[in-house]
Amino acid sequence: MSNEEIAPKGLDGVVVDKTEMSMVDGEKGVLVYRGYNIDEIANCSFEEICHLFLEGELPTQTQLSELKARLNAKREVPDVVLKYIESAPTTEDPMAVLRTAFSMLSGSMPKVDDNSPSVVKENAVSLISQVSTLAAAIHRVRRGLKIVPPHKSLCYSANFLYMMRGEEPEDVVARTLNTALVLHADHGFNASTFAARVVISTLTDVVSAVTAAIGSLKGPLHGGANTAVMEMLLEIGEIANVEPWIEAALAQKKKIMGFGHRVYKVFDPRAKHLKEMSKEWGERVGEVKWFKMSEKIEELMMKKKSLNANVDFYSASTYYAMGIPAEMFTVIFAVARTLGWTAHVIEQLSDNRLMRPEALYVGRMDKKFVPIEQRA
Ligand code: COA
Repeated sequence: MSNEEIAPKGLDGVVVDKTEMSMVDGEKGVLVYRGYNIDEIANCSFEEICHLFLEGELPTQTQLSELKARLNAKREVPDVVLKYIESAPTTEDPMAVLRTAFSMLSGSMPKVDDNSPSVVKENAVSLISQVSTLAAAIHRVRRGLKIVPPHKSLCYSANFLYMMRGEEPEDVVARTLNTALVLHADHGFNASTFAARVVISTLTDVVSAVTAAIGSLKGPLHGGANTAVMEMLLEIGEIANVEPWIEAALAQKKKIMGFGHRVYKVFDPRAKHLKEMSKEWGERVGEVKWFKMSEKIEELMMKKKSLNANVDFYSASTYYAMGIPAEMFTVIFAVARTLGWTAHVIEQLSDNRLMRPEALYVGRMDKKFVPIEQRA
């Protein structure tokens, strides 16, 4: 094996498998979910998108009602998991708490090791439902508030907000969160999805695969960027500080979070929707400052680095205007992406081969063994 045979660093441009889940066209800025352009389905309910990913097609009214009933019935999580969330130090990263709590869900899944299609699909429905309960509980506990049990009948996004806030949300808030969840649901073979597929390729269980994916999403080069964007906006503070702050950061070769993408070379189609949402929300709550600062940063990044905003950039100011604290942004991303991860697990299992690449060994080959008592 030679250097020439090594795949590019970061598997840049390497096509590792086929998928019917989503298509990311980085040149044209197009994202397709199972045949539908994201622009056309961004306002569908998250439950409709669940049906699209899990069953391959948007649901009829009857199918939607059935899926909603199944999702609603699975919202409760075991007490032992909630106790863990209550006991987790609030100094810990909320994504780390989510990762551990999510992993604990397998304890209450009697058939977690059964990878037959119907069982995995049912487990996926449970996990998609329960992840929002975990996320809301993490949010409440970190604010010193009592955990709110799930509502029996509210839709996915309204129930998620209800569990976070302890009261039924206004329609407009639920609709915004719904669209954000839809826009974050899947995105080709991104790092966390690939991690989930690698893990399930060993024929372990769906909880293990998604737990690994949550760990991957936590990183600042992936989902962790949205929290970092808000921290940056808060640090910059005022529109007048934007230019000097960005110039200084770029001069120090720092990466500006929420910009650049491995695949998109044009504007991220998800960011287009989120930018509109950020503006609307800024106006609604009478604090357009974060949107205006974001726009200014976007303009500067295009001028100075020819880099476009990605999904994480405008989601930050949107969530913030909705009253969601920055530390929860990546957790919300994980809630949405649990749909994509579980759908990819199902697809991987349908035509599985253990993922086991090779590496070019570049270490030494000539060392002589020395017994421990003789080592200096
Ligand atoms: N801010 C400043 N410069 C950036 C940048 C950013 N956000 N993203 C990329 N660049 C620059 C790099 O410094 C590098 O410049 P150089 O060639 O002068 O060294 C060049 O663009 C290529 O960057 P690289 O990190 O190799 O590209 P990649 O394809 O590996 O990067 C990301 C993709 C997403 C990892 C990268 O753009 C990034 O780190 N963005 C910030 C984190 C983020 O928003 N992640 C969420 C992605 S949805």
